[in-house]
Amino acid sequence: MNSTPNRRVYKEHIMRKLGILASIATIIGALGIASITASAGDDKPAPCQRKDFKTVMVKEACEKGGQPAAKDAMKAFNKDKKIASCNKCHSKLAPTYELKPDGFDQFKKLGGKALDDKSAADKPASK
Ligand code: HEC
Repeated sequence: MNSTPNRRVYKEHIMRKLGILASIATIIGALGIASITASAGDDKPAPCQRKDFKTVMVKEACEKGGQPAAKDAMKAFNKDKKIASCNKCHSKLAPTYELKPDGFDQFKKLGGKALDDKSAADKPASK
């Protein structure tokens, strides 16, 4: 006779524990979904930081695919010119990619095309 209320208390205890577990699972699940959608919604490339460009290469890349494209173009340029470090020209990297005072000159000396550089535009392509 006495055992029935006791058993009910025990059962409620278990149910409450399960309830807590269930809500923890829900929270973890929600966090997981939130982080997945956050990265999935990230498909628009970040725009370039600079708004007026000095180089043909970076301007075109930024217009086409934002900063990721500019980064790819820069990487290809670096590989082409056998430059080991981005810091040769940049004082800071992502996200601002600030240039060192001579960053642009270095770029030009290496054969990078400047937007307002008529002589570079007139030169026959070196390939
Ligand atoms: C030889 C010099 C030089 C080196 C080395 C160099 N950069 Fe650059 N980078 C430039 C110049 C100059 C600009 C600005 C171009 C312009 O104004 O049109 C630039 C611009 C950029 C931009 C555009 C940033 C924005 O949002 O406006 C990115 C991204 C970038 N560089 C990435 C890199 C990465 C990554 C490396 C290394 C793999 C690298 N750069 C190495 C000269 C260099």
